[in-house]
Amino acid sequence: MSSSRSTLRFGFGAAALLAVPLLAIWFSGAAPSANAEDPQGDALVAGSVCEAQKLKAMQAEDPDLVIEIPPQYAGQWPSLAACESHDEAWSEDAPGPRQPIPFSHKHHAGDFGIDGQYCHSATDRSRSAGVPSVELCMGCHAQFPAAYDEMEGIRILKDHWGIKVEQNEDGRWVSGPRDPKQAKPIEWAQIHRVPEHVKFRHNRHVAAGVDCQTCHGPVEELDKLHLVPDTKWWFYGLPTQKLEMGWCIQCHRDNNHQASQDCLTCHY
Ligand code: HEC
Ligand code: HEC
Ligand code: HEC
Ligand code: HEC
Repeated sequence: MSSSRSTLRFGFGAAALLAVPLLAIWFSGAAPSANAEDPQGDALVAGSVCEAQKLKAMQAEDPDLVIEIPPQYAGQWPSLAACESHDEAWSEDAPGPRQPIPFSHKHHAGDFGIDGQYCHSATDRSRSAGVPSVELCMGCHAQFPAAYDEMEGIRILKDHWGIKVEQNEDGRWVSGPRDPKQAKPIEWAQIHRVPEHVKFRHNRHVAAGVDCQTCHGPVEELDKLHLVPDTKWWFYGLPTQKLEMGWCIQCHRDNNHQASQDCLTCHY
């Protein structure tokens, strides 16, 4: 998140280049499971690009595995990492609320290095951070190949942009025309929130050089976001949750009283 804004102006080609070492990492990881059908009893047949990506990864682990990838699913995109992140972002096992779209901060901010302030552009200017508009998401996603429509998260995103994606008889997902009247904002679940009686200003903290991660945890490593507990319990002498008053005050007191601890600094 601390990288410069210029990293955002990559085209899809640059994104592709970035994804190559990433695939290598995934290939070396634990074998993912694919839901592929096996009609003949001798080969695992992919039914989507994501399934094909997972089967290829499984075969890299186990060269004896017989797999069959129909030509329509043989493409390079979506990447294996995107398919995995898409599933992980809705994982029941990971902490945090289920968001309306399985969007991964790990894949966007971590793997692709998209700067946090590109999407949360108000953090340096106003008290709230702001969530990106559907238009900003579509600025990238409208240029993506049609194969991405097989991902449920992309279909939900397009639905919020006023585009219906439907599956035709041979199983392909096809985007319809856009009807702007059907567009609607995405209702993200808010994870970090202070009570009404508390004043909090993002811009003062960003200007003072406090990293997003100090308060929000390693977002670039998380597919699914949640309120990350404070791990410096020894520092406070008791278990402290982030966004609790003691946690805020401890930092304001830290480093030679860098910020005010006056009640009226944080309370109306
Ligand atoms: C700067 C470009 C960019 C923006 C802005 C962007 N994305 Fe993405 N998105 C990507 C790339 C690149 C991938 C991964 C492609 C791959 O690896 O195959 C991706 C993947 C995804 C996926 C698949 C799962 C995952 O997270 O990897 C979903 C869902 C998604 N994006 C939704 C969104 C939503 C919703 C927004 C707006 C809040 C958004 N994207 C904004 C570039 C962008
Ligand atoms: C000093 C701690 C701190 C820092 C640094 C910080 N935030 Fe926050 N963030 C908060 C608090 C507290 C809230 C809740 C604000 C509220 O309730 O109005 C919040 C809320 C948010 C939200 C709103 C919604 C949600 O669901 O969590 C976003 C998005 C966000 N921050 C992004 C960022 C980004 C991006 C950065 C870095 C540029 C950043 N923050 C830096 C403390 C921080
Ligand atoms: C990691 C350190 C850190 C944490 C955690 C932190 N702050 Fe701050 N806070 C700062 C710094 C540094 C400043 C900037 C002081 C300045 O501008 O000179 C600041 C400034 C502020 C200001 C503006 C002060 C003014 O004079 O107007 C408010 C309000 C504030 N913080 C509230 C909070 C609240 C509420 C929390 C907890 C939810 C919090 N802070 C957590 C470091 C922190
Ligand atoms: C650095 C910011 C900060 C300062 C300074 C601060 N508070 Fe708080 N306070 C918070 C936050 C954030 C919360 C909400 C989270 C929580 O309840 O721990 C809170 C909650 C409270 C509550 C609990 C309200 C409830 O609904 O339970 C009281 C009472 C309170 N503060 C009083 C004070 C008093 C009195 C002072 C001055 C001695 C003070 N605060 C100074 C940040 C601050």
